[in-house]
Amino acid sequence: MEIERVQLQMHGDNRGMLIALEKDRNVPFEIRRVYYLFSTKCDVHRGMHAHRNLNQLAVSVRGSVTFLLDDGEGPRKVVLNDPSQGLLLRRMVWREMYDFSEDCVLMVLADQFYDPADYITDYDAFMREVRGDTYMGDVPACQGR
Ligand code: TYD
Repeated sequence: MEIERVQLQMHGDNRGMLIALEKDRNVPFEIRRVYYLFSTKCDVHRGMHAHRNLNQLAVSVRGSVTFLLDDGEGPRKVVLNDPSQGLLLRRMVWREMYDFSEDCVLMVLADQFYDPADYITDYDAFMREVRGDTYMGDVPACQGR
Protein backbone atom coordinates (compact mmCIF):
# COMPACT_ATOMS: atom_id res chain seq x y z
CA MET A 1 0.00 0.00 0.00
CA GLU A 2 1.01 3.60 -0.50
CA ILE A 3 2.28 5.24 2.69
CA GLU A 4 0.93 8.78 2.91
CA ARG A 5 3.05 11.05 5.05
CA VAL A 6 2.11 14.68 5.57
CA GLN A 7 5.01 17.08 6.14
CA LEU A 8 3.89 19.66 8.68
CA GLN A 9 5.39 23.11 8.50
CA MET A 10 7.38 24.06 11.60
CA HIS A 11 7.26 27.62 12.87
CA GLY A 12 10.48 27.97 14.80
CA ASP A 13 12.31 30.85 16.35
CA ASN A 14 14.71 31.34 19.20
CA ARG A 15 11.94 30.44 21.68
CA GLY A 16 11.29 26.99 20.19
CA MET A 17 8.98 25.28 17.72
CA LEU A 18 5.28 25.35 16.90
CA ILE A 19 3.20 23.30 14.46
CA ALA A 20 -0.43 24.08 13.56
CA LEU A 21 -2.90 21.54 12.20
CA GLU A 22 -5.72 22.98 10.10
CA LYS A 23 -8.60 21.42 8.21
CA ASP A 24 -7.95 21.29 4.44
CA ARG A 25 -4.56 22.99 4.79
CA ASN A 26 -2.49 20.15 6.19
CA VAL A 27 -5.27 17.87 7.47
CA PRO A 28 -7.29 16.56 4.52
CA PHE A 29 -10.58 16.18 6.39
CA GLU A 30 -12.88 17.82 8.92
CA ILE A 31 -11.45 17.28 12.38
CA ARG A 32 -14.18 15.99 14.71
CA ARG A 33 -12.06 14.28 17.36
CA VAL A 34 -8.54 14.37 18.75
CA TYR A 35 -7.14 11.73 21.10
CA TYR A 36 -3.67 10.83 22.23
CA LEU A 37 -1.91 7.79 23.62
CA PHE A 38 0.82 8.11 26.22
CA SER A 39 2.45 6.07 29.01
CA THR A 40 2.17 3.08 26.66
CA LYS A 41 4.05 0.04 27.92
CA CYS A 42 7.00 -0.86 25.67
CA ASP A 43 5.91 -4.46 24.97
CA VAL A 44 2.32 -3.52 24.08
CA HIS A 45 0.66 -3.85 20.66
CA ARG A 46 -2.28 -1.46 20.23
CA GLY A 47 -4.73 -0.91 17.45
CA MET A 48 -5.19 -4.31 15.77
CA HIS A 49 -8.27 -3.15 13.92
CA ALA A 50 -9.51 -1.29 10.85
CA HIS A 51 -12.30 1.25 10.50
CA ARG A 52 -15.05 1.11 7.92
CA ASN A 53 -15.64 4.85 7.74
CA LEU A 54 -12.94 6.72 9.63
CA ASN A 55 -9.96 8.66 8.33
CA GLN A 56 -7.24 9.72 10.73
CA LEU A 57 -3.94 11.55 10.87
CA ALA A 58 -1.39 10.32 13.42
CA VAL A 59 1.52 12.40 14.72
CA SER A 60 4.09 11.19 17.19
CA VAL A 61 4.34 14.48 19.06
CA ARG A 62 7.06 13.03 21.24
CA GLY A 63 9.11 9.84 21.03
CA SER A 64 8.64 7.08 18.51
CA VAL A 65 6.23 4.32 17.56
CA THR A 66 6.06 1.76 14.76
CA PHE A 67 2.93 1.26 12.66
CA LEU A 68 2.08 -1.84 10.68
CA LEU A 69 -0.44 -0.93 7.99
CA ASP A 70 -2.26 -3.24 5.61
CA ASP A 71 -4.89 -2.25 3.04
CA GLY A 72 -5.30 -5.86 1.96
CA GLU A 73 -2.31 -5.85 -0.40
CA GLY A 74 0.25 -6.80 2.27
CA PRO A 75 1.73 -5.20 5.38
CA ARG A 76 3.94 -2.09 5.41
CA LYS A 77 5.97 -0.89 8.38
CA VAL A 78 6.25 2.83 9.17
CA VAL A 79 8.22 4.42 12.01
CA LEU A 80 6.85 7.73 13.31
CA ASN A 81 9.46 9.62 15.31
CA ASP A 82 9.19 13.22 14.17
CA PRO A 83 6.57 15.74 15.37
CA SER A 84 6.63 17.40 11.95
CA GLN A 85 5.51 14.20 10.18
CA GLY A 86 1.90 13.12 10.00
CA LEU A 87 0.80 9.69 8.84
CA LEU A 88 -2.54 9.45 7.07
CA LEU A 89 -4.60 6.44 8.14
CA ARG A 90 -7.43 6.05 5.69
CA ARG A 91 -10.55 3.98 6.14
CA MET A 92 -10.29 0.23 5.56
CA VAL A 93 -6.64 -0.03 6.57
CA TRP A 94 -5.63 -2.56 9.21
CA ARG A 95 -3.30 -0.94 11.74
CA GLU A 96 -1.16 -2.11 14.61
CA MET A 97 1.10 0.09 16.74
CA TYR A 98 4.04 -1.25 18.70
CA ASP A 99 7.60 -0.45 19.85
CA PHE A 100 6.38 2.66 21.64
CA SER A 101 9.26 4.55 23.22
CA GLU A 102 8.75 5.23 26.91
CA ASP A 103 8.20 8.95 26.23
CA CYS A 104 5.91 8.48 23.20
CA VAL A 105 2.88 10.76 22.91
CA LEU A 106 0.92 9.69 19.85
CA MET A 107 -1.74 12.21 18.82
CA VAL A 108 -4.49 11.19 16.42
CA LEU A 109 -6.92 13.50 14.59
CA ALA A 110 -10.09 11.87 13.31
CA ASP A 111 -12.91 12.86 10.98
CA GLN A 112 -15.64 11.08 12.98
CA PHE A 113 -16.70 10.84 16.60
CA TYR A 114 -15.81 7.69 18.50
CA ASP A 115 -18.00 4.81 17.32
CA PRO A 116 -17.25 1.26 18.49
CA ALA A 117 -19.55 -0.07 15.72
CA ASP A 118 -17.13 1.26 13.08
CA TYR A 119 -14.33 -1.10 14.18
CA ILE A 120 -13.35 -4.32 12.41
CA THR A 121 -11.32 -6.22 15.00
CA ASP A 122 -10.99 -9.58 13.25
CA TYR A 123 -8.18 -9.66 10.67
CA ASP A 124 -9.74 -12.40 8.54
CA ALA A 125 -13.08 -10.54 8.50
CA PHE A 126 -11.19 -7.36 7.51
CA MET A 127 -9.49 -9.17 4.62
CA ARG A 128 -12.82 -10.52 3.36
CA GLU A 129 -14.45 -7.10 3.66
CA VAL A 130 -11.59 -5.10 2.07
CA ARG A 131 -11.39 -7.43 -0.90
CA GLY A 132 -15.09 -6.93 -1.61
CA ASP A 133 -14.92 -3.19 -0.92
CA THR A 134 -15.81 -0.84 -3.79
CA TYR A 135 -16.00 2.45 -1.88
CA MET A 136 -13.62 4.94 -3.54
CA GLY A 137 -13.21 7.30 -0.58
CA ASP A 138 -13.53 11.05 -0.54
CA VAL A 139 -10.39 12.17 1.26
CA PRO A 140 -7.93 13.85 -1.11
CA ALA A 141 -4.19 13.38 -1.05
CA CYS A 142 -2.48 15.95 1.17
CA GLN A 143 0.91 17.46 0.40
CA GLY A 144 1.31 19.22 3.75
CA ARG A 145 2.01 22.88 4.11
P1 TYD B 1 -8.91 1.28 21.95
O1 TYD B 1 -9.78 1.45 20.76
O2 TYD B 1 -8.77 -0.08 22.57
O3 TYD B 1 -7.45 1.82 21.62
P2 TYD B 1 -6.40 1.24 20.55
O4 TYD B 1 -7.20 0.62 19.46
O5 TYD B 1 -5.65 2.45 20.10
O6 TYD B 1 -5.52 0.27 21.20
O7 TYD B 1 -9.40 2.32 23.04
C1 TYD B 1 -9.07 2.22 24.43
C2 TYD B 1 -10.23 2.72 25.25
O8 TYD B 1 -10.49 4.09 24.98
C3 TYD B 1 -11.52 1.97 24.96
O9 TYD B 1 -12.19 1.77 26.19
C4 TYD B 1 -12.32 2.91 24.10
C5 TYD B 1 -11.84 4.27 24.55
N1 TYD B 1 -11.85 5.28 23.49
C6 TYD B 1 -12.72 6.35 23.61
O10 TYD B 1 -13.53 6.46 24.57
N2 TYD B 1 -12.71 7.32 22.65
C7 TYD B 1 -11.86 7.27 21.61
O11 TYD B 1 -11.87 8.19 20.76
C8 TYD B 1 -10.97 6.14 21.49
C9 TYD B 1 -10.01 6.03 20.32
C10 TYD B 1 -10.99 5.19 22.45
